[in-house]
Amino acid sequence: MAVLVTGGAGYIGSHMVLALLDAGHDRVVVLDDLSTGFDWALPPEVELVVGDVADQALVAETIRRHGIDALAHFAARIVVPDSVADPLGYYFANTVKTRALIETAVREGVRHVIFSSTAAVYGEPDVVPVPEDLVAAPINPYGRSKLMSEWMIADAAKAHGFTYVILRYFNVAGADPRGRTGQSTPNATHLIKVATQAALGQRSHLDVYGTDYPTPDGSCLRDYIQVSDLADAHRVALDHLRNGGESLTMNCGYGQGYSVLEVIDVVKRVSGRDFEVRLCPRRPGDPARIVAQADRIRNLGWTPRHADLDGIVAQALAWEDALTKRNRL
Ligand SMILES: NC(=O)c1ccc[n+]([C@@H]2O[C@H](COP(=O)([O-])OP(=O)(O)OC[C@H]3O[C@@H](n4cnc5c(N)ncnc54)[C@H](O)[C@@H]3O)[C@@H](O)[C@H]2O)c1
Repeated sequence: MAVLVTGGAGYIGSHMVLALLDAGHDRVVVLDDLSTGFDWALPPEVELVVGDVADQALVAETIRRHGIDALAHFAARIVVPDSVADPLGYYFANTVKTRALIETAVREGVRHVIFSSTAAVYGEPDVVPVPEDLVAAPINPYGRSKLMSEWMIADAAKAHGFTYVILRYFNVAGADPRGRTGQSTPNATHLIKVATQAALGQRSHLDVYGTDYPTPDGSCLRDYIQVSDLADAHRVALDHLRNGGESLTMNCGYGQGYSVLEVIDVVKRVSGRDFEVRLCPRRPGDPARIVAQADRIRNLGWTPRHADLDGIVAQALAWEDALTKRNRL
């Protein structure tokens, strides 16, 4: 048995690879085109196949050669504003290529699929916390490209007899607590990453979009999940499927919201550095609050170990610092 991790050289995928290796029970192969990932994010014992998830000959050969029984599909384009500017590019990268990958997996008899989805499939939910059975209503091409992939996977599973877990991530943050990997893409837009860059003097200031939302301090409320905890949710999902469990769609978050301004305060306190914060008008399409109802994944046996926001910020700072030193080499 072996797991094929697509996008395993990226931020979340590289943490998944470590989670599997740390759990000690899997052979892991990564397929990544290195468009936003880094080969150095992987431990040397992991085989990296450099290529595209839609290259059906390459994927089929990889599945056969390694006896892959499970696929964890992380590879995607992930920047919401880019998806608005280039919707056809996003539907191609995220939906069309996922279709090709799943077709290959079906042909080659892969038994289980774990898919990286997103809270963006909920759009602007008016329910807090958000349950998985809320009708999905994405408001941008990124969210729609992911929701279409969810539907394809569910339909193909029914027709062809594999099982799947779809994980809808809320706001992913932090880095491997042992400093082995972290978020390395230079133009990431995630709040905690951007705030740590401001604290380290790599950005002149930080923009906050909207301070008149109906939340305690007027800024948006989000559910930040630490990336190693998220990776561990995938490991739990994989065990569930391999033990004969049914297909599921599950939120991944802690069920606790922090406001943008609270996060900025934590970054300033933990780093001991002040930086300029500019209060800007709201951006279209930002819901006031999104917090996960996360009972399903917890009921599967997932126990978060890194939910403390100070710790998440400290990891992000340490990783950003290490990344700066690496980039100077
Ligand atoms: N980062 C978040 O906050 C977040 C939130 C919700 C969902 N997700 C989902 O998690 C997954 C991983 O996101 P991430 O933050 O690690 O992004 P990332 O950009 O760091 O990782 C994506 C990886 O996929 C690779 N890749 C992209 N297209 C490919 C292709 N066609 N063939 C092979 N490899 C390809 C990239 O090189 C990269 O290594 C994505 O599916 C994303 O939609 C991320």
